[in-house]
Amino acid sequence: MWLKDSSIGRKLVMSITGLALVLFLLSHGAMNLALVFSEEAYNVICSILGANWYALIATLGLGFLVVVHFAYALYLTIQNRMARGKDRYAVTAKREGVEWESENMLVLGFVVIGFIVLHLANLWFKMQFTEIMHILGFHDFAVSEFAPTDGAGLVKALFTTPVWGQVYCVLYLAWLVALWFHLRHGVWSALHTMGFNNLKWMKRVKCIGTVVATLVAGLFAVVVLYYLGVGIGMLCA
Ligand code: HEM
Repeated sequence: MWLKDSSIGRKLVMSITGLALVLFLLSHGAMNLALVFSEEAYNVICSILGANWYALIATLGLGFLVVVHFAYALYLTIQNRMARGKDRYAVTAKREGVEWESENMLVLGFVVIGFIVLHLANLWFKMQFTEIMHILGFHDFAVSEFAPTDGAGLVKALFTTPVWGQVYCVLYLAWLVALWFHLRHGVWSALHTMGFNNLKWMKRVKCIGTVVATLVAGLFAVVVLYYLGVGIGMLCA
């Protein structure tokens, strides 16, 4: 099949799945922002999503996108390395005009996905997964003292409990730095693959990549920094 067998087809799959994941991140980050203004409002959002059928379909779609994006990333990297053979060891000096993140996208991807696993254990497992278990009849299933619908309580406990809360804030900020680098190059590369690659668009596309990456990482960082402040305030009180 063209999307699997040709290099441009594979890049197109990476681009489309990557941009769809950026849309998820933008909406996830925007919803999280409610935490800073009103924890009640955030819990209303959590109850609207929860384990309702449309949220479950969205989660399955999201999982599919992550798996395809990751599998194609591995496939493309292995193919590129095989095509370059021993030559890839020949040049060790930094190549002029080549940004660090463009050469380390797979490593950054591993860091991002590694933290996603930790993040799912931190929150999703205690929320949507717990609700699914209850729907399936395992009514006693509970992995947290908080109700699975109390997203605000769970996030606050995660980021403010001394001293692990502050450790988690620092870990999440490090995750967001890796995500920023990954998205900055990823968005640029996706738009480039989709045809925005002439002289006029090259600079614009680079700028769009930086703006989108900063917006996504910034939305999440505001929440983490807010709770870091709350946690430090609690420690000092
Ligand atoms: C301040 C930072 C963040 C907060 C407070 C936060 C909060 C949450 C919460 C409460 C859930 C569980 C929702 C539920 O099960 O109903 C969740 C799920 C999730 N989060 Fe985050 N999140 C943050 C950052 C991120 C980042 C940076 C990523 C990805 C790079 C991410 C990816 C996900 C994914 C994939 C899910 C599962 C979504 C689903 O079930 O459909 N989150 N997050």
